[in-house]
Amino acid sequence: MSASIAWRAGLRARVPPSRPSSLFPRRYPGAARYASESAPVQQAAAETVKQSAKEVPKKAARGSRKILYGTTLAVTLLVGYIYGTDTRASIHRYLVVPLIRQLFPDAEDAHHVGVDSLKFLYQYGLHPRERGNPDNDGALTTEVFGYTLANPIGISAGLDKHADIPDALLDLGPAIVEVGGTTPLPQDGNPKPRVFRVPSQNAMINRYGLNSKGADHMAAVLKQRVRDFAYAAGLGEHELAEQRVLDGEANVPPGSLVPGKLLAVQVAKNKLTPDGDIDAITRDYVYCVDRVARYADIVVVNVSSPNTPGLRDLQAAGPLTKILTGVVSAAKNVERKTKPYVMVKVSPDEDSEEQMSGICEAVWKSGVDGVIVGNTTNRRPAALPEGYTLSSKEQQTMKETGGYSGPQLFGRLVSLVGRYRHMLDQGPPSGEVTSTGPDGEEVAVHPASQPRKVLFASGGITTGQQARQVLDAGASVAMMYTGIVYGGVGTVTRVKQELREEMQKK
Ligand SMILES: Cc1cc2nc3c(=O)[nH]c(=O)nc-3n(C[C@H](O)[C@H](O)[C@H](O)COP(=O)(O)O)c2cc1C
Repeated sequence: MSASIAWRAGLRARVPPSRPSSLFPRRYPGAARYASESAPVQQAAAETVKQSAKEVPKKAARGSRKILYGTTLAVTLLVGYIYGTDTRASIHRYLVVPLIRQLFPDAEDAHHVGVDSLKFLYQYGLHPRERGNPDNDGALTTEVFGYTLANPIGISAGLDKHADIPDALLDLGPAIVEVGGTTPLPQDGNPKPRVFRVPSQNAMINRYGLNSKGADHMAAVLKQRVRDFAYAAGLGEHELAEQRVLDGEANVPPGSLVPGKLLAVQVAKNKLTPDGDIDAITRDYVYCVDRVARYADIVVVNVSSPNTPGLRDLQAAGPLTKILTGVVSAAKNVERKTKPYVMVKVSPDEDSEEQMSGICEAVWKSGVDGVIVGNTTNRRPAALPEGYTLSSKEQQTMKETGGYSGPQLFGRLVSLVGRYRHMLDQGPPSGEVTSTGPDGEEVAVHPASQPRKVLFASGGITTGQQARQVLDAGASVAMMYTGIVYGGVGTVTRVKQELREEMQKK
């Protein structure tokens, strides 16, 4: 209670005794009688005054305490908010990650909780985000597809399978977020359990099997996101406002909606689409592109998931050329001023000269803009790093069917990036390059007239030094997934800081 309130309480206590004397002056006998009769009342009033006088400081003290508690609570909440929503806070790595692992022994449950929490927190502005704009110094700036990106770090596909949290992920600091993969029709994926941790290796095995809510669902989610953005930017509502944003009137890339950042959307085929029917498979990919590419800066063609039977066979030069040509043509028809770029995500297991050369041939022939190397692996690490042993549970987990991901992929990744860089820079193995013309027809072009194919690297990256290595090997972007699962929401910020330090060493 403030001093003025206490003062007002004191004033109220003084009013009753003055009233009878002023209302009934002593010269009127009746008044005197009345006055004498009212003596006990006056006494009681005096008691009240005394009581009140005692209570005033008590109330004031209580009031001050309330103010103190209120202020302390407000300051604690504010500091907690600032700390807890900062990606640099060590609580994310050392408390949240182990806690989630304890509370959710099933890795898929933990995945859902992570995504749902970020979605919820984002809605209320309580999500973790990179504070202080560390990219502002320009040290990590890089050029990709003519865009100047804030940094060369990405979050790879599968973490945000249904495009629930692209903005929350972008706020964690990467310049690229890849959502999906999405399939034409919704599909459940494989039966559970289908995601497993190998904690001693900071690794995972998953056989999700491209569970997807379908391309129409993803398109609706992404469309709404653009419309919300348009409305907030004052460009209006509905179709026209959406088109204005997609056509660049808001001066942001049409996919990410954030300057210096890009959104990649990954597309895949349905499991039930017959393996041998390349026309039907191409239609699957094109269906997805027709729905979602409008909202993407980059469309990624997934032919490398190990959990969809027959999918990896599509990496052979013939089928891959056909699929990619269909996708490139569909991407060129997107109704938008700037068209999305197209990349193909390839497996780290198809690593013979012949297989890689077939992929490069298809990339050149179809006019795809780049390659993401690679995905999870069907292989299991041959030997564990020195000093490591697997618990018996982990030994069982290692026998699970599915794609392995985590730090042990890294050695192979660096080598693959270097080899793909070299092969793609040579031009097409057959020496012949075609490009898709405006009406979908093939046009012969000279390889040297074509932009350099872009490489993104994905597989076991967990530190700035490793990011540096893949960039030096020829990649433009270092992508992460499993590193974030074990390192928490601050991983991208940490890796970027380490990368900055690496750059200074040069
Ligand atoms: C649980 C899980 C789900 C994944 N889902 C997809 C996916 O839908 N599409 C895809 O291309 N890659 C998917 N990946 C592969 C990752 O994008 C990444 O390429 C791979 O895990 C290797 O990188 P990392 O070692 O940094 O995790 C998934 C990986 C994990 C662990």
